[in-house]
Amino acid sequence: KARIAVLISGRGSNLQALIDAAANPDFPGDIALVISNRPNAKGLERAQEAGIQQETIDHKDFENREDFEAALNDALKIAKIDFVCLAGFMRLLTDSFASDWRGRLINIHPSLLPAFKGLHVHERMIEAGVKVAGCTVHFVSSEVDAGPIIGQAVVPVLPGDTEETLAARILEQEHLLYPACLKLLIDGKARLSGNSVPYTEDVIVNGSLT
Ligand code: GAR
Repeated sequence: KARIAVLISGRGSNLQALIDAAANPDFPGDIALVISNRPNAKGLERAQEAGIQQETIDHKDFENREDFEAALNDALKIAKIDFVCLAGFMRLLTDSFASDWRGRLINIHPSLLPAFKGLHVHERMIEAGVKVAGCTVHFVSSEVDAGPIIGQAVVPVLPGDTEETLAARILEQEHLLYPACLKLLIDGKARLSGNSVPYTEDVIVNGSLT
């Protein structure tokens, strides 16, 4: 089975969705390592409860991004990691790290990229008055929340929505979309070809594989 690392900074609800999906014997990967850049991330407790090896690599302990990423790379190498999932990992990664892991490093973001990259996404979507929202899983490039798209899920924005209600509706889809996209990646069905991800016979509709 493929060995997966999940990088987190906080709550870890997407980590939990990946742990739960990988608990199914039919899932083609094991969550072998969880790394947090914050010592008190709630997601670390989830890893511990699931009996998964976990490590804190605190960016504050390093002088620069390169040294921090060298420590990440060491941990990933020691654990013989094949694929890396960013799940609410709130550090920018350098070109060098992104290119080392090119095609094997994915991220989830709570918008229909390329719209609404960055922070405070739900608040900005409500302000903009968009009528649909959603989430995206994509290969990571060195630009924030950018890179070839593997899958997306769509939700409506409803009258009276607040940041919280919209975020909750999107998060429910994130938890379906991320495991489905990771499975496609491990199975070799979602792959990079130049700067895009060619379509395969497997299509993700609203978060789930058809
Ligand atoms: C998720 O909504 C994820 O899409 C978002 O952070 C949240 C993490 O929640 N990621 C980004 O905004 C990346 N730019 P979680 O820790 O419960 O998975």
